Amino acid sequence: MSFLKKITVHWERVAGKDTYPFNIPALKSLQELDTNYNVVFFIGENGTGKSTLLEAVAAKCGFGLLGGGKNFVFNEESSPTFEEILSLAWLPKVTSGFFLRAETFYDFACRLDQMAREDGGVVYAPYGGSSLNEQSHGEAFLALFNNRFNRQGLYILDEPEAALSPQRQFAFLRIINQLEQKGKAQFIMATHSPIIMAYPGAVIYSFDGARVSRINYEETEHYQLTKAFLNDRERFFMHLFAD
Ligand SMILES: Nc1ncnc2c1ncn2[C@@H]1O[C@H](COP(=O)(O)OP(=O)(O)OP(=O)(O)O)[C@@H](O)[C@H]1O
Ligand SMILES: [Mg+2]
Repeated sequence: MSFLKKITVHWERVAGKDTYPFNIPALKSLQELDTNYNVVFFIGENGTGKSTLLEAVAAKCGFGLLGGGKNFVFNEESSPTFEEILSLAWLPKVTSGFFLRAETFYDFACRLDQMAREDGGVVYAPYGGSSLNEQSHGEAFLALFNNRFNRQGLYILDEPEAALSPQRQFAFLRIINQLEQKGKAQFIMATHSPIIMAYPGAVIYSFDGARVSRINYEETEHYQLTKAFLNDRERFFMHLFAD
């Protein structure tokens, strides 16, 4: 089920586009993004602005930045934050959801441990009943997905594959499928995983180049490179290592 229908960027509120985050090529030309899909992927090279947009949307939704957000750096004090120039169109509006930054999962787990020391472990209940730090990285991720994603809401995930083996990535896709088919959840995710972005019926937005544009799965570099590599890895390496 899609709740967030559209993201609109109000550039008229920004004085100049020469400082971060307004100077990122793909974001600079972004006026509107159609998010009326159960599953939306942001893909593209490193540094193309996927996390920047995800974080701004999560902040605009009012979701906490689990484990802390990035420290945004602005040259001018009067600059708005990226979230301040966004507006979100909802139908229906949901207030529950989750934002997960892969890099700060450990900090989040530690914060839960701290809270558990104060409440005798009650806080662990939605996370599988025990400390996320006592489970492996991948186990902790799946515990979170399995137990916390049970409410109707919007889930914003930055590189959920970071901890997951291929087998667990499929388990993760199964969880997504169950939630979105029941009309319980919408997912917006940044990913580099050719397995995860293959999710049927998803829309894929590429941040490569001068604008955010829709792309088919088979057209993605992730798919093409992985396929070429797996089809004939000797040939692939011959080219890769050639002078
Ligand atoms: N706090 C910051 N101050 C200045 N520039 C930043 C800041 N955070 C990120 N950037 C720059 O903004 C660009 C986009 O960063 P972002 O983290 O959104 O990329 P990304 O697409 O998520 O990349 P990745 O796939 O590596 O996670 C990068 O060029 C980065 O160097
Ligand atoms: Mg990122």
